[in-house]
Amino acid sequence: MSGPSIQVERLVFAYPDGRQALFGVDFTVEPGERVALLGPNGAGKTTVVLHLNGILGSVTGGTGSGRIRIGGTDLHREHLAEIRRKVGLVFQDPDDQLFMPTVRDDVAFGPANLGLRGSELDDRVFEALSEVGMQDHADIAPHHLSFGQRRRVAVATVLAMRPEVLVLDEPSSNLDPASRRELADILSGLDVTLLMITHDLPYALQLCERSLLIDDGRIVADGKTRDLLADPDLLSAHRLELPYGFDPLSVSGPER
Ligand SMILES: Nc1ncnc2c1ncn2[C@@H]1O[C@H](COP(=O)(O)OP(=O)(O)OP(=O)(O)O)[C@@H](O)[C@H]1O
Ligand SMILES: [Mg+2]
Repeated sequence: MSGPSIQVERLVFAYPDGRQALFGVDFTVEPGERVALLGPNGAGKTTVVLHLNGILGSVTGGTGSGRIRIGGTDLHREHLAEIRRKVGLVFQDPDDQLFMPTVRDDVAFGPANLGLRGSELDDRVFEALSEVGMQDHADIAPHHLSFGQRRRVAVATVLAMRPEVLVLDEPSSNLDPASRRELADILSGLDVTLLMITHDLPYALQLCERSLLIDDGRIVADGKTRDLLADPDLLSAHRLELPYGFDPLSVSGPER
């Protein structure tokens, strides 16, 4: 890719029912960066990330303005297929991502669309499921899995596409502590640009050197995760709370 991985300029958006969710969002993520997108419920986090591969925005309805570029390519209708290959989006709700009869079919769906077949496709599916520890569940129907297991399969559907930019909407929610840690190990081992929405502030600190804080449809802070989390006035002004006893200055962050 050439240019920033993600470039969002003056993004304004109102849903079709008239609800204005974004009031002018600007940020840039450079290749290889790992950035957390923080903010209270209803701040506009999901709305922002659903724009990054054209699920929301000028292509699909609602009213808005602004400019989005992925790896220097404008997000326009004619580039949508290319951008969806580059940007892997793990939805907030895994049930929005899984729609095939088996886990294997769901993970194979994207790579098969790219033209992979036979053993190459099987290998890709096995590899992605192994990365999330779900390789023994390939023949199960997604709706027979637990929520946390469905979340891991949803991550695998995106990893199977080997995206250049990985965007995750609350990846650690509803995971048990071991699964949460295992997912952190997976994410920190990937060679991708990462943008991760999370309410899990220690997770943001562990995985992302930089954080963006959004509230009421505007970016209100952009800096080192440690600095944001060490600012109690900033956190309380935007309804963010650290877990009891957690000191962001006593924990080591990502090695970068
Ligand atoms: N489909 C929709 N139609 C109308 N309004 C919506 C829709 N989805 C979200 N909104 C509104 O847009 C605003 C931003 O919502 P968004 O889902 O982006 O917040 P969020 O930061 O992801 O919150 P959460 O932490 O609860 O997931 C909210 O006011 C929300 O009510
Ligand atoms: Mg959300």
